[in-house]
Amino acid sequence: MKKIFTLLLSLFAAGHLIAQNNTLSASMDKVKLEFKLNNGKPEYAVYYSGKPIIKPSAMGFKLAGNASFTDSFSLSSSETKTVDTTWSPVWGEVNRIRNHYRQLTVHLTQKNPARAMDIVFRVFADGVGFRYVFPKQHNLQYFVIADEATQFALAGNHKTFWIPGDYDTNEYPYTTSKISEIDNRQMVKNSTEIAVRVAPDAQAVQTPLMMKTADGLYINIHEAALVDFPAMQLHVDNNSYKLTASLVPNAVGTKAFVHAPFNTPWRTIVVSDKATDILASKLILNLNDPSKIENTSWIKPMKFVGVWWEMQIGKGTWNYTDYPDSLSADGKLIPNGKHSANTANVKHYIDFAAKNSIPGVLVEGWNIGWEDWFGFWKENVFSFVTPYPDFDIEEITRYAASKGVKMIMHNETSGSATDYERQLDTAYKYMNKYGYTSVKTGYVGKIIPRGEYHDGQWMVDHYLRVAQKAAEHHVMLDAHEPVRPTGLQRTYPNWMASEAGRGNEYNAFTIGSPPEHETIMPFTRLMGGPMDYTPGIFKLKGYSSADPQRQVHTTLAKQLALYVTMYSPLQMAADLPENYNAHPDAFQFIKDVATDWDDTKILEAEPGDYITIARKEKNSNNWFIGAITDENSRNSTISLNFLDKGKKYVATVYADGATADWKSNPESYQIKKMTVTSATKLNLKLAKGGGAAISIKPL
Ligand code: NOJ
Ligand code: CA
Repeated sequence: MKKIFTLLLSLFAAGHLIAQNNTLSASMDKVKLEFKLNNGKPEYAVYYSGKPIIKPSAMGFKLAGNASFTDSFSLSSSETKTVDTTWSPVWGEVNRIRNHYRQLTVHLTQKNPARAMDIVFRVFADGVGFRYVFPKQHNLQYFVIADEATQFALAGNHKTFWIPGDYDTNEYPYTTSKISEIDNRQMVKNSTEIAVRVAPDAQAVQTPLMMKTADGLYINIHEAALVDFPAMQLHVDNNSYKLTASLVPNAVGTKAFVHAPFNTPWRTIVVSDKATDILASKLILNLNDPSKIENTSWIKPMKFVGVWWEMQIGKGTWNYTDYPDSLSADGKLIPNGKHSANTANVKHYIDFAAKNSIPGVLVEGWNIGWEDWFGFWKENVFSFVTPYPDFDIEEITRYAASKGVKMIMHNETSGSATDYERQLDTAYKYMNKYGYTSVKTGYVGKIIPRGEYHDGQWMVDHYLRVAQKAAEHHVMLDAHEPVRPTGLQRTYPNWMASEAGRGNEYNAFTIGSPPEHETIMPFTRLMGGPMDYTPGIFKLKGYSSADPQRQVHTTLAKQLALYVTMYSPLQMAADLPENYNAHPDAFQFIKDVATDWDDTKILEAEPGDYITIARKEKNSNNWFIGAITDENSRNSTISLNFLDKGKKYVATVYADGATADWKSNPESYQIKKMTVTSATKLNLKLAKGGGAAISIKPL
């Protein structure tokens, strides 16, 4: 009798039959999601093959003004559905993506005042995504989020690959430690880096957060479709292994201004017993909306060179004159004689690009403002339509067009986003006028509006406004120093790449990054989208005018492999033309390697140790393989069984030299050609900090 009564009660509460103990669940293959209201508090849990990945964990939000969306809920109804579709990205690592999930939506309500919040869960074979939805309602129109209550209660003291919860930058090397050891005061102590600083919350880390459990499961926590909301960081409890969402604040110390109806970004948990599955996961892309750009025919992946590394290593300058601006008697600026973006030098890069079939040329330091841009925190720093006197844009445009080379505009905002927004229209019209098809933006320094952070809601909105404005003008975007990506390249495919992490440039202006860095990045930073990492440095020692000891922490062959392992549809050949001209045989790989792909096979991977990836060029039968290792040398045998059966190919293997070593002998490499088939097994020997790059073309 009592049982029937409870059953009736729950029927009444839920509007329809709900599962045992009020627990709702949804599964896909080995992944299971459970949801329940625990005394009115929403809770979820995630299992993989029956093992707890996320133990029952809190959900919801605290609103400003004492209201809360964490408890006193009842379940008014729920529904499930299965979706199984396939879509094609405009560009990407593969040409077809399956989107297969089981969705559970719970409709939650509070009384006094009557308010509603939904939670939508999507369960995929490789993880779970969930988002909060605030439906249109009378008692909740404009509101302020004070904190997010979402927790991820991990089931053990996992190994983690983390960077500190800085609100303004993600350009950190990764620390590998147990959850119990996460503390960025310790990291600062151990570091010889000047850039490292203690984040406001020393126990906060950024996402994507990569973890490995003691029994060999790989877990990645991030978010998808970050729109009109601050980035989520994670506060770590060293003892209970509980992670709590920690939203990047705004200038007034709250987290987000929201207007219902509103969807939050998706919180994502990718899980597998294979590290390769984490890199192959399309869960984050699948949780983003399809392209909002209808005509995408103008969006084209490409490689580019640039008037860039020479300034990074101190050979030239971005600025035309020296600070404070030196004026001659007649009031003209006196050039410092080292300005790189001068017409003759730009033409030199255009010639190099044309000769080597590299489609694009980036030029930095072409516009006025570089004398006092950084550290001055001025609101109006740069004009985006005023070249320096020695940069003849008419002539450069004519010359580039005559050689079939596309120019990439540089818009460094120096963090003054308000000023950039005022100039957006004129800046993009100017690009159109001179036929520039791409822009690289930058946000070095503190953000204006003052008090806002790079990863807060205001800036998240800003980056998207820029991507939308660029799309209106058919301009492709590569954003430096933005919030880290969350798969929005599916929705705005002109937002091709971002830096949003510690790029190769750190080898130019700091002591660099450890050899393991590039084996961690794909598991962390790149989970959300492509990175403009700027690979391809050939002169690996003795390039820095600031510090002759400085060196890149890889071999030359590993620099080649990065074109495959660090996915991006915009890929820079970052070194100077003269350094490429010194190694034309190795440069051949950069000339050949594709930037858009039909297929990708993650052949082997272990975060922090090694990665080997094979990719098939879009609309072609050419394959490219990149294999990289950390500070340890490595032998690996890879099967080419993904090649067409019965076909013969010629493979060109760009390998580390017999005595190569990132520290003592980084520029030693050897190139071998051989005939291969799908039955071939290739033995690769990677040096310490080394790699191998292979191009495979049908005979
Ligand atoms: C930092 C960017 O990452 C780099 O690529 C650029 O050259 C400088 N800022 C100057 O804008
Ligand atoms: Ca940067």
